[in-house]
Amino acid sequence: MYDKGRIIAGVVIFLILLAFPLIYLSASGEGGYVPQPVIVTEEEQCVEPAEYMRKKHMELLEDWKEGVVRGGTRTYVASDGTEYDVSLVETCLDCHTNKAEFCDQCHDYVGAKPYCWDCHQAPEE
Ligand code: HEC
Ligand code: HEC
Ligand code: HEC
Repeated sequence: MYDKGRIIAGVVIFLILLAFPLIYLSASGEGGYVPQPVIVTEEEQCVEPAEYMRKKHMELLEDWKEGVVRGGTRTYVASDGTEYDVSLVETCLDCHTNKAEFCDQCHDYVGAKPYCWDCHQAPEE
């Protein structure tokens, strides 16, 4: 008589081994190209926590722009109380001087093409 339990256990182990490379690759993030934005500044933090910046920098920039264009708000008080000049080029790109290796890394990956650079001049790299 066959031992059903053993056969099933054998099949399960076989399937796990078969799936292992896939599980491994997706867990380690090496399965595909993932953007690696390079931080070059000596500063330790962004204007807001990195997690927030990753998700919300477009909205933050939009608020900055609206503030300047509508009301002339040229100082941003961050959530930790630090004050920054409201400026795409003079502030963001003062720390992130490597636009191509930073901003563009992510934007190329998701296919985003911010039109900001039609007018705003990114510094030479
Ligand atoms: C004072 C220097 C400084 C300024 C100014 C600054 N950043 Fe940053 N930024 C950093 C540093 C340092 C990190 C990495 C922080 C970390 O990993 O905790 C970072 C992280 C980020 C990230 C997340 C990157 C990732 O790997 O997920 C984004 C997006 C970002 N910044 C966009 C901006 C934008 C847009 C502005 C202007 C509104 C800006 N930064 C202004 C220093 C700065
Ligand atoms: C960690 C990845 C990452 C980094 C680094 C990053 N961005 Fe983005 N950015 C995104 C994503 C994702 C979007 C959203 C694209 C979409 O919604 O289609 C976006 C959208 C934007 C938008 C809105 C674009 C639009 O057409 O609506 C602006 C403006 C922008 N980013 C500016 C910057 C600037 C300036 C920097 C560098 C200082 C930067 N980003 C760095 C990931 C990043
Ligand atoms: C048609 C030209 C044009 C385009 C496109 C444009 N801007 Fe601007 N932006 C301006 C002008 C003009 C000002 C006002 C400059 C001043 O008063 O200092 C300004 C001001 C700003 C400011 C505040 C002051 C500064 O020096 O940064 C921010 C932040 C800003 N824009 C972000 C953006 C972002 C983000 C985008 C893309 C999503 C964008 N702008 C696209 C023309 C443009």
